[in-house]
Amino acid sequence: MRKISYKNNNYDCLEDETVLDTLLRHKINASFSCKIGVCQSCLLKTSTANIPPKAQTGLTKTLIQQNYFLPCVCFPEDDFTIVESKEHEIFHDAIVLEKHWLSQKVCQFIFEKPEKLQFHPGQFINIRNTDLVTRSYSIASIPTSNRIELHIKHFQNGKMSNWLCHKLNPGDSIELQGASGESYYDVKSSQQNILLIGTGTGLAPLLGIVRDAIEKKHLGEIHVYHGSRYCDGLYLIKEMIQLKNKHSNIYYYPCISSSNPLLNNEKKIPDCINERADEFALENHSSLKNWKVYLCGHPAMVKKIKTKSYLAGASLNDIHIDPFELKDLRVKPR
Ligand code: FES
Repeated sequence: MRKISYKNNNYDCLEDETVLDTLLRHKINASFSCKIGVCQSCLLKTSTANIPPKAQTGLTKTLIQQNYFLPCVCFPEDDFTIVESKEHEIFHDAIVLEKHWLSQKVCQFIFEKPEKLQFHPGQFINIRNTDLVTRSYSIASIPTSNRIELHIKHFQNGKMSNWLCHKLNPGDSIELQGASGESYYDVKSSQQNILLIGTGTGLAPLLGIVRDAIEKKHLGEIHVYHGSRYCDGLYLIKEMIQLKNKHSNIYYYPCISSSNPLLNNEKKIPDCINERADEFALENHSSLKNWKVYLCGHPAMVKKIKTKSYLAGASLNDIHIDPFELKDLRVKPR
């Protein structure tokens, strides 16, 4: 049986078991979130030479050279040794500059961009809090602003979102890791039309991509569909309308899917479309041949629309997805 060596102890690794599951089975408090090799919150370092390639998929060249790997998708072929990670190789300190509630449930944070943190708008970064809990959030700002803008959805039982929304304030420092993800604007597509569909805080990466496209003088049309079941899930409506009015190639469609959209005392949103954002978008764009498509939000919606976009003619290489894993919805906070 293979052994996992961690902090001077050896642990048996079962057949078909990942390094992360071995650690968790032995009650080791290892950080993780998605468990599918996407969020990188479980990142660890090894001295073992034989790292399965899948365990380094999506990591930067620098992290690969430094022998970092993702234990949640690492099925070791031999004994495996985990060594101490170097904090400065993974995390960057960032100061909170601004914090604003955009709706009853969504809080906007603006951080000063750490000099060494490189990102494309639309990618995601990880935040680590003082309890060493890590969560991923998509970036809505562009690098030249020297700011990192995130939209945080507050969950009643969310350990990270509660900490961010209720404890973190302007002037505080926070640890950021990243950035990662393949969903971002490609300047080579400047002539193509772009379709962006997002639900809830899926607006954050879409807004980042739109801002990047504007900065890089995108020539094709840009259609943004932002959906929610209820009115309280839509936000930054005024800002999106201003963007649309300022740029003749930008189109914006706020969509509410519920026939009874007001939950509490919210104001009705004028000019809002009473239909699911994904369905309304595909009704409007029945042919997506040579279009770029960006999809963010609920994993089931993202998967369904990816298939429909492909069937409508979009090339798989032109469909970029950012499915939000819903780990924060668990009943008990981790
Ligand atoms: S928990 Fe390993 S990549 Fe998300």
